[in-house]
Amino acid sequence: SKGGYEHFMLKEIHEQPGSLRNTIHGRLNALTGTVELDEFPAETFADVEQVQFVGMGTSYHAAMYASSMLSSRGVPAYAFQAGEYGLVRPPVTEDTLVIAVTQSGETADTLDALRRAKSAGADTVAVTNTVGSSITRECDDTLLIRAGPEIGVAATKTFCSQVTALSLLGERLVEDITGTRTSDGRDLVEALSRLPGHVQEILDTSVAPALAQELEDSDSYFFIGRGVAHSAALEGALKFKEITYEHAEGFAASELKHGPLALVTPDTPVFAIFTGFEDDATLSSMKEVQARGAPVIAVTSKTDGEIAEFADYVLPIPETHPDVAGIPASVQLQLVAYHAAHLLDRPIDKPRNLAKSVTVH
Ligand code: F6R
Repeated sequence: SKGGYEHFMLKEIHEQPGSLRNTIHGRLNALTGTVELDEFPAETFADVEQVQFVGMGTSYHAAMYASSMLSSRGVPAYAFQAGEYGLVRPPVTEDTLVIAVTQSGETADTLDALRRAKSAGADTVAVTNTVGSSITRECDDTLLIRAGPEIGVAATKTFCSQVTALSLLGERLVEDITGTRTSDGRDLVEALSRLPGHVQEILDTSVAPALAQELEDSDSYFFIGRGVAHSAALEGALKFKEITYEHAEGFAASELKHGPLALVTPDTPVFAIFTGFEDDATLSSMKEVQARGAPVIAVTSKTDGEIAEFADYVLPIPETHPDVAGIPASVQLQLVAYHAAHLLDRPIDKPRNLAKSVTVH
């Protein structure tokens, strides 16, 4: 049942404080500031030399997010769209760990990529929401994201739980592969423990409904960010296009002047995601689009500095670790997409042409 909500999507967005609590439950040690995964004790990954993530759609965005966290912390990590994996054919050895990210555990492209990696000798881990799914039967090991069933076709709570579970697994990988535990790792663990409360704050205070109204009738909607916020930007755009049927695109902020800037007009709102990492660079991208007349919406924790001063609108997020900030930012963008689609009277839980799980090619 929809539990009093008009759509499953809105219900699932609002379930996130609880689903995130489940994702981290028993997996963080607050005293030592470390991650403790029953499935993966310390040293499990000591021999891994390279990590390859595969996934599709929203799960690919979670994979990108995780690979960018890992590589910035010294682990060679790459994310591939599972459907391209067999064509790109990245080199795989027995020291390669392939992590299949899939909510349903049944996506045909992701299963194919996994099989290819396995037959090339890789170790494999499934990160999934679905106990007993095909991916769990085919991978060596599984990390469940524990988000609970998701009915809305647009993935919401499972995206945030995927990123969170991948952050936990990422900590294990960083410690095992680089052989170091850093204070940054402890800060990340602390930020993850506060995440459910942070998401609750957003749900209690979001101005997304009013903002969606302000921006109605625009031509296109753009989303920009750097690092993990690039993945959050792609996810923000995917959610927006799939349920509103409006044109939406996500870019790396650095990509703008190499083409996309030609699309920017007063009728193309731009959502700029600030995580606290390289914010000055994102601010200058924000000013660039603003100079072309685009309304800018800053998703930021810095609600009283230069960013907020220049932005036309602000979607606030709590201050947290930069690698975690993309999660509350994504919740704000889920709400904007939902309310924009609602104004347009779209069939939010079942967008045209889409299926919850794509089990064929
Ligand atoms: C978008 C969405 C899809 C799925 C994709 C992969 O909201 O839900 O892009 O993320 O089809 O599905 P899973 O995660 O089940 O492999």
